[in-house]
Amino acid sequence: MSRCRNSILILRSPREALMLSCERTTLRPHPEVLARLGEPRRMHAHTEPVPILRDASLRSAPQDEGRCVWRRLHLYAIVFIALIVTTSIASAAERKLNIGQPATPGMIAGWDIDVRPDGQGLPPGKGSVKAGEQVYIEKCAACHGEFGESAGRWPQVAGGQGTLKSDDPVKTVGSYFAHLSTVFDYLRHAMPFGDAQSLSNDELYAVVAYLLFLNDIVDDKFVLSKENFASVKMPNAGGFYDDDRETSEKAFWAKPCMTNCKADVKVTGRARVIDVTPDDKAARRGTD
Ligand code: HEC
Repeated sequence: MSRCRNSILILRSPREALMLSCERTTLRPHPEVLARLGEPRRMHAHTEPVPILRDASLRSAPQDEGRCVWRRLHLYAIVFIALIVTTSIASAAERKLNIGQPATPGMIAGWDIDVRPDGQGLPPGKGSVKAGEQVYIEKCAACHGEFGESAGRWPQVAGGQGTLKSDDPVKTVGSYFAHLSTVFDYLRHAMPFGDAQSLSNDELYAVVAYLLFLNDIVDDKFVLSKENFASVKMPNAGGFYDDDRETSEKAFWAKPCMTNCKADVKVTGRARVIDVTPDDKAARRGTD
């Protein structure tokens, strides 16, 4: 290999490269390949063929020329393949299904807006009932009514306490929502309907405070903030419980009998008596 270093090859055509690489090796270019590459370009009579330049001090024996080119080609090929393999392994690890593009931290932050009952996920900010009234009148009252009583057929967001067990339960922030985080999280994701995520954090705190006021949970001086958020207790806080169907509905889970389920079967009536089973005659009449 050292003999290849620093030597410069100037190749005039693919044919020359092929000839050079095959020189002194047992390989010979196939005549068809040579034919496809065409004849070597003719030089003008007065020009010498362009020499193959190389560092004289490192001159290699003629039989090394072919090997050097082969080795170089091999080396390039190995480096090239290694590059392709490592980049595709790296991107395969990032993109298992090879669709879409990796999410940036900014994109993830845009989606990561959920709030937990203990307040985790809340943005910094605060808002008073008074400021919330302003937001509510401007952006919510048209649908939910000035006092949360609903306008037209839009959902009611205040009142309804004590109705959950009735035939006509009214589910509102005051009657139904067990955690304040559900209110905040829901508004942050979905309201105002049709213009979701348009409220600032302070507007969100304020309008949640106003909904609490409309539901008689806080007074009109209340200011909701990230800091006092977890201290607000909702009227229906104990109204939800863990899924207990494993025990409460167990009786219904017995495997149903599908064959020979009753030993003594007694026929109590026949469909023919009430004339609902078509007999042959009736069927034939139908086709007459
Ligand atoms: C264009 C009408 C419209 C506007 C404006 C609007 N909402 Fe709503 N709101 C709805 C509809 C419709 C639903 C029910 C959506 C659903 O169930 O998928 C809803 C649901 C709600 C709920 C949940 C009700 C429940 O008990 O399930 C709350 C709370 C709420 N909105 C508050 C607000 C607040 C606060 C604003 C103003 C920032 C607002 N909405 C603006 C139409 C509206």
